Amino acid sequence: MTPQTWLLTGGAGYIGSHVADEFLASGKDVVIYDSLYQGLESRIEYLRKKYKKEIPLIVADIRDTDTFTKTLEQYKPYGIVHTAALKAVGESMEKPDEYFEVNFHATTKMLEIIASHNIHNFIFSSTAAVYGAPDHSNPIKEDDEKNPISPYGASKLAAEGEVNKFLALPGNHGTSLRFFNVVGTAALELLDNSVENLVPIVINKLKDGQAPVIYGTDYPTPDGTCIRDYVDVRDIARAHLAAADSTEALPLAMNVGTGRGGSVREVIELVCAAAGKPEVVAEEKDRRAGDPAFLCADVSLIKHAIGFSSKYSLEASTESLF
Ligand SMILES: NC(=O)c1ccc[n+]([C@@H]2O[C@H](COP(=O)([O-])OP(=O)(O)OC[C@H]3O[C@@H](n4cnc5c(N)ncnc54)[C@H](O)[C@@H]3O)[C@@H](O)[C@H]2O)c1
Repeated sequence: MTPQTWLLTGGAGYIGSHVADEFLASGKDVVIYDSLYQGLESRIEYLRKKYKKEIPLIVADIRDTDTFTKTLEQYKPYGIVHTAALKAVGESMEKPDEYFEVNFHATTKMLEIIASHNIHNFIFSSTAAVYGAPDHSNPIKEDDEKNPISPYGASKLAAEGEVNKFLALPGNHGTSLRFFNVVGTAALELLDNSVENLVPIVINKLKDGQAPVIYGTDYPTPDGTCIRDYVDVRDIARAHLAAADSTEALPLAMNVGTGRGGSVREVIELVCAAAGKPEVVAEEKDRRAGDPAFLCADVSLIKHAIGFSSKYSLEASTESLF
């Protein structure tokens, strides 16, 4: 039987390359479409060596509709996993138009092209940022209020709306996966190279011989620091595979988290320990505006819909980074 081919936008990125790894391991073929704006060709090289096969990498922007159309015509993918996006919350405040152009308008246009090419499967990378900063400490359910507090979160929520329209067309299948805080790696070659997430920030501080910083130690949480749901990127990749292989109709959007909270202090201590520097003490600063005390996923929907639950502990995730 010919293997299913999936086109992965952003497949040279942190999460996209892990999805590629998981899909290849399951016997699917992948085609990577990435502008290499943040993505790394070295990740694809690593996967080519690991699976001993040529993995096509189309270096192009998702806004380049001609190249996107030609790519669909050349490879005729069975489905698309759309991870390509701009994802820096802080930067989105400075460049809201660019964030809407890439994350919303380009996604809208892509979906039109996909629909006109008879491709029926689409999995979208969404984010917990669509929920904004809830003022309660209950795990967040998919139908909770959506109040994004950044253009990044707003652009992803708007894109979800377009994905929903695509999924409403007869015969179409897929979902938006709302990732919480993604950590860990399957291999050092696939490490997260972003500069905004807590774990890479801590690692970079340690490399520079500096103390990591905790913003706010007076939150109403057990150790006073913010609590987030840290989910391993290998689990995120497994969730994509389970969604891709599901033959049932999927909910329009599903949280991908662990359902357990980890505090900022706990994460910093685990990263320092995994780096062999358990003696490092974090510097404590005032709270930053807009950081909710608690943001954790209710994960019952994804468990019910595709039988997915996370496997990796926060310790296992931090240990994988060194
Ligand atoms: N990392 C997280 O904690 C997290 C959490 C929630 C949601 N997400 C979402 O997951 C997805 C993947 O995130 P990631 O952490 O792997 O980020 P990443 O930056 O590593 O990957 C994104 C990839 O998209 C590519 N890209 C960006 N703009 C492009 C464009 N215009 N055309 C073509 N390619 C483009 C980049 O080069 C990069 O390889 C994003 O949609 C992000 O919003 C990530």
